[in-house]
Amino acid sequence: MLKQRLENFARINLVGEATPLEKLNRLSDYLGRDIYIKRDDVTPLALGGNKLRKLEFLAAAALEQGADTLVTAGAIQSNHVRQTAAVAAKLGLRCLALLENPIGTAEHNYQTNGNRLLLDLFNVEVVMCDSLYDPAAQLAEQATLLEAQGFRPYIVPVGGSNALGALGYVQCALEIAEQSTAELLEFDAVIVASGSAGTHAGLAVALQQLMPDTPLIGMTVSRSAEQQYPKVAVLAQQVIDALELETTLPEISLWDDYYGPRYGEPSSEGTAAIKLLAEQEAMLLDPVYTGKAMAGLLDGLTRDLIPGEGPILFIHTGGAPALFAYHPQV
Ligand SMILES: Cc1ncc(COP(=O)(O)O)c(C=O)c1O
Repeated sequence: MLKQRLENFARINLVGEATPLEKLNRLSDYLGRDIYIKRDDVTPLALGGNKLRKLEFLAAAALEQGADTLVTAGAIQSNHVRQTAAVAAKLGLRCLALLENPIGTAEHNYQTNGNRLLLDLFNVEVVMCDSLYDPAAQLAEQATLLEAQGFRPYIVPVGGSNALGALGYVQCALEIAEQSTAELLEFDAVIVASGSAGTHAGLAVALQQLMPDTPLIGMTVSRSAEQQYPKVAVLAQQVIDALELETTLPEISLWDDYYGPRYGEPSSEGTAAIKLLAEQEAMLLDPVYTGKAMAGLLDGLTRDLIPGEGPILFIHTGGAPALFAYHPQV
């Protein structure tokens, strides 16, 4: 039913086949618990990541509206901006990005390497701002300026996180349900990084329908659980409404012990998790999102916070290009 509802929305196929769902054998042996990983870090465009799923829907809407420019915003090292720029290049659209430096660093690598380097390759028009204090208003202002110059802008919200973008993670949940059924896997928990919240919200709504007994845990990467909850809940309700589902809001579980020192600044636990996954599995996590989310998973195991003895699924949302930008801190 979810699948049919999703087909009501215009979509450009950018992700292709389902991303792999794999067991991390060495890490599982090391931890004494089976860990699986959903490889959204290897979505096909421009070094991968979770935003491509959202952009399948958002870019389709942009084309439907006759847009010629994608306008978005994020940190200098935003994976979202990099993937939006890549989609724009692929579709022959212009891209304008409003960028901020959320950690106020003057590190050369942060300013020029990693995701930022790729923006130049994709020919993005970069507009630096002191702070994205009200991104929706700042993006609207940029769109007005572009219109005055004769362009037809389409605003992609920060993180691609509106109801339309979150549909990408309804699709991901459909893949997970199919893959786990085929492999006879019943997960004790699914773990995902929760930032602008579209990934979490889409998964929460769809997994409630498809795998109702499996808890989904969002590891916050930018704010406390109290601040994050309404973001996920509002978006989840919008996804329910967009899909016309007759259901109540799914349970939204958030852990917020791992996002410190603050958004965009590496933590020692996150860096240790990056190192562990690289050593054990040659799997590349990132310092802003997946390293911190994995730190939460590892700590949850140590503290016996994930009930049962069955397998756990980690959603790898990408981000490794930022490793080069955060060198030498990571
Ligand atoms: C690598 C990575 N993981 C996780 C996230 C969080 O996803 P969301 O913003 O949908 O919560 C992002 C968002 O930019 C990301 O780049």
